[in-house]
Amino acid sequence: MQKPARRPNSPHFSSGPCAKRPEWRLSALENALVGRSHRSKEGKARLEELLERSRRLLGLPAEWRIAIVPASDTGAVEMALWNLLGARGVDLLAWESFGEGWVTDVTKQLKLEDARVLRAPYGKLPDLREVDFARDVVFTWNGTTSGVRVPNGDWIADDRQGLTICDATSAVYAMDLPWQKLDAVTWSWQKVLGGEAAHGMLVLSPRAVERLESYTPPWPLPKIFRLLSKGKLNEGIFKGETINTPSMLCVEDQIDALKWAERIGGLPALIRRSEANLAAVSAWVERTPWVSFLAEDPATRSCTSICLSCEKPKEIAALLAEEGVAYDIGAHRDAPPGLRVWGGSTVETSDIEALLPWLDWAHEEVK
Ligand SMILES: Cc1ncc(COP(=O)(O)O)c(C=O)c1O
Repeated sequence: MQKPARRPNSPHFSSGPCAKRPEWRLSALENALVGRSHRSKEGKARLEELLERSRRLLGLPAEWRIAIVPASDTGAVEMALWNLLGARGVDLLAWESFGEGWVTDVTKQLKLEDARVLRAPYGKLPDLREVDFARDVVFTWNGTTSGVRVPNGDWIADDRQGLTICDATSAVYAMDLPWQKLDAVTWSWQKVLGGEAAHGMLVLSPRAVERLESYTPPWPLPKIFRLLSKGKLNEGIFKGETINTPSMLCVEDQIDALKWAERIGGLPALIRRSEANLAAVSAWVERTPWVSFLAEDPATRSCTSICLSCEKPKEIAALLAEEGVAYDIGAHRDAPPGLRVWGGSTVETSDIEALLPWLDWAHEEVK
């Protein structure tokens, strides 16, 4: 087989940090407020702008709070778990390594006794009908290492008594999230909008705030997790008064990404771009005998972390990196061997389409 004539314009298919937006240049950061305090009038204005643009782009309900928090998505999830859990029993959903990580935290670190784990192997989802919404529920919207997502929020009870805590880092900005059904939602900047790593986002529903103000967990809370001040929600955190110091360079970059998203048509356009990437890969998988989706049910196939099973994936990934055609497309180290191609909203469908013949070529080469 001959090498394909066309290469992807961008070889960036990593699942995090993900590809920057199309046309991104370092010059997009020229006006970053570097060397200035994030607590200055101007610094605070940037942080507020970031929160406001995020809120608008996502269509967050007005009563939902949104904050920038430390330590990326992991920090945001830990913050939610440590602050909110323990008031009632919890159902933990895990179908790949990130969900499994939260199970470990809740059962081995927080040591919650009334914790029930609903598990499924790589490629599948647990039976969502088994979830008990009288309890708190912790789950990932998109399992980044298996490429399995929940198909929608229909399984989440509107009249739940417990809280839903959702790690949505590979989903936000590429999938529709039913905010009314989600009480704590987290993500990080380096995923679907291709921002810089290190900062987390935390969204809280009014019921989550009510839990915070009415319940005190039995364990100590480190300063970087603390959301209350004198027993009440520290509202400043949700207005850009971050707990500790953010990078104003990363802030500028995230604002740039949000502006790009607005320019191209907002959330519907972001979702359309990502779904088009999945559709391009799906059409190819259908006509390609040597490869299959790790996600068994088409309704659960992720449009961001697209995970594929095949022979010799490591060799294929290495060869394509060597060719400069595709970087970082090997499966996550905890997942079954395979390929993982990021199809998030910053990735051009034309680049995915250009990549596919290269995968066929590499497969022939390493066979
Ligand atoms: C579902 C999920 N949860 C958590 C993380 C960890 O995110 P971070 O590195 O932003 O803390 C990731 C990273 O890929 C992820 O995909």
